[in-house]
Amino acid sequence: MAPIAYLECTRCGVHISAEQPQTVCPKDGGVLYVRYDLEHLKHHFKPESLVWRPATMWRYAEVLPDAEPVSLGEGFTQMLPSREFPNVFIKDEGLNPTGSFKARGLSAAVTMAKSYGLKKLAIPSAGNAASALAAYAAKAGIEAHIFMPKDVPLANRMECAMYGARVTLVDGLISDCARIVAERKQKQGWLDVSTLKEPFRIEGKKTMGYEVAELLGWQLPKAIIYPTGGGIGLIGMWKAFEEMQALGWIGNERPRMIVVQSAGCAPIVKAWNEGAWSAGFWPNASTVAAGLRVPKAYGDYLILDILKKSSGTALSVTDQEIMDALRHWARVEGVFGAPEGAASLAAYRKLRTDGFVGAEDEVVLFNTASGLKYLDVLEGELKRSKPQDSSQIGGIIAPY
Ligand SMILES: Cc1ncc(COP(=O)(O)O)c(C=O)c1O
Ligand SMILES: [Zn+2]
Repeated sequence: MAPIAYLECTRCGVHISAEQPQTVCPKDGGVLYVRYDLEHLKHHFKPESLVWRPATMWRYAEVLPDAEPVSLGEGFTQMLPSREFPNVFIKDEGLNPTGSFKARGLSAAVTMAKSYGLKKLAIPSAGNAASALAAYAAKAGIEAHIFMPKDVPLANRMECAMYGARVTLVDGLISDCARIVAERKQKQGWLDVSTLKEPFRIEGKKTMGYEVAELLGWQLPKAIIYPTGGGIGLIGMWKAFEEMQALGWIGNERPRMIVVQSAGCAPIVKAWNEGAWSAGFWPNASTVAAGLRVPKAYGDYLILDILKKSSGTALSVTDQEIMDALRHWARVEGVFGAPEGAASLAAYRKLRTDGFVGAEDEVVLFNTASGLKYLDVLEGELKRSKPQDSSQIGGIIAPY
């Protein structure tokens, strides 16, 4: 693994040492990126170096922090070729520990917290990041203090309880949870591992970018559709592409990065449509896709910049379109995705209809979590909607 050269502010460019735990830029609150000496690394870290390495995200050890990984086997998830659309791949992040892509970022963040000797971590979460922190903190023997909306999916609550995390259910949204963590962290001695408020979750998430490239034979797809809340995955993948270019693994080609959000909470889409460089707070956020219920993304300026640089776009889909896509994916592809992931399929359909992507374009759709984490939510949705058809189980008509 590589020693970290420095942390760099994405707003003012200042360099900060990673010897001590850091959060955001002390001058302007900018998100910090971890920087390595890629010029040096490029001489001995090559795609061939990866052959025979374990099928986890830690196979990219040279571009991850130099510490003993706290790992549960995260990463290197399948890219499933779609049966319905010949040039589409489904990157199935539901196969990760704790059933979502949040495992990657929290594996990296907890790894570094442990190596810094920290004992107490806190997180405001829409649900899946909470489960992931709870699991990795358990593995590391560190306390996890979790603040999440009281109506998160049942699985998230159960997981956190089983992993022994200290959970506070908040009558509000992730933004309210973030405020509580910010108010209490100093007194309680917690490191706040909120999205983009510490530098290492991006490092874990960026491995999705390395994997997309590796699994496509070091070619990048034409487009990537990513269900966006706080946007760490999108930001991380973009960082990975820049690193891979610096390492000489790819050229300056980039996929069109596409943000999909729910119509019930679409601050990035609104900002994109208005040509803004930052996004406002989305009032009364509400959607079946709990992970997309993020009314204000801390890294909005980074997401919008990436959309611009990649000639990408941002679009929203309705909860009805999400539910239709979720059912369709399960039936046609055998992939039981999360509502957030199914939003990628709903977005792909729209982008095909309006010609933004063509049938011949290679496109990667991110399914960010397993549908198994949403059974209570999905049951509620199915009861509300007209039953589609029923199936027979042992002579009893099942309701869906
Ligand atoms: C399943 C799922 N998909 C997507 C997201 C959004 O992820 P990000 O914050 O990286 O944009 C979340 C966030 O909680 C999530 O749980
Ligand atoms: Zn700064």
